[in-house]
Amino acid sequence: MNKTIKRIGVFTSGGDSPGMNACIRAVVRTALYHGLHVTGIMRGYEGMIDGDFKEMNRDSVSNILHRGGTILKTARSERFRTEEGMKTAYRALKAERIDAVVAIGGDGTFRGATEFSSKYDIPFIGVPGTIDNDLFGTDYTIGYDTALNTVIEAVDKIRDTAQSHDRIFFIEVMGRDAGFIALNAGIAVGSEAILIPETPTDLQSVADHLEDDWVRKKTSSIVIVAEGEEEGGALKIAEKIKAILPKHFDIKVTILGHIQRGGNPTCLDRVLASRLGCAAVEALLKGKHTEMAGLIHDKVVFTPFAKAVKHHVEPDNELVHLADLLGH
Ligand code: F6P
Repeated sequence: MNKTIKRIGVFTSGGDSPGMNACIRAVVRTALYHGLHVTGIMRGYEGMIDGDFKEMNRDSVSNILHRGGTILKTARSERFRTEEGMKTAYRALKAERIDAVVAIGGDGTFRGATEFSSKYDIPFIGVPGTIDNDLFGTDYTIGYDTALNTVIEAVDKIRDTAQSHDRIFFIEVMGRDAGFIALNAGIAVGSEAILIPETPTDLQSVADHLEDDWVRKKTSSIVIVAEGEEEGGALKIAEKIKAILPKHFDIKVTILGHIQRGGNPTCLDRVLASRLGCAAVEALLKGKHTEMAGLIHDKVVFTPFAKAVKHHVEPDNELVHLADLLGH
């Protein structure tokens, strides 16, 4: 055990994700269990720069396990990208006597932590908190499963009305430049087509597919579009398809948006967040730093930040094949 760590800081950064609170709770309780003090850093790197800190105890994390969002709030910080911003943050951490930090966030968070660690002597361990599931070194990121469930609940509802009106819906889901939410939710809702940035999209063949369906009296369809799709978002794609299809096709667009980021975390996200939050604190105590805690094949593993953010994770070919096969 690293006896020089007496106080750890914890923060959430980047887009919030359901399960972040469960992770904060696990970090705080694990740290207290090991006799450490804990400082909550508000608003990610922004709060670190401003010295916006609060002392955390058991009570500060009571009744938050099941809540979406993050009690520490979050932000995307431009200032932390600058030399000056990092220096100010370092001074603020030192003044608060923070010896080590748990960073809960996505690739932007870990890029910032990597840069910071190359200059300053405060160890960071990361926990993947993003709905996008786009980090190498973990099978799931915290919030991804909840976001998937939110998407399928919404799309199931849209399916009802699509069927009643004989309509085609193009539904856009989040994921930034990754298609994991689109692919997995698309399979789960039985969508007729799934358009993701990782695979080439042929709009003519999507239109042909919808027309074939119409001919065989399947008069409503769901097309899931990842927001990072190279042909554009759902609005643009729907317009392009509309231009190809005969006039009688009734096409609607729904952009699910930030509804995907909220809500009570699922069981999977709560357990994942709790395991990784605990593992992150214990890793710091063992002297680890600049690594991300993740779960692979149900075991906690650590991956250097540089690797977690650099490797672009590709969706499983078997899933892409399955989506294609079942959509036809
Ligand atoms: O990274 C999570 C995410 O929700 C992405 O899926 C999306 O592209 C982005 O954040 C939206 O960010 P903001 O809430 O800042 O608009």
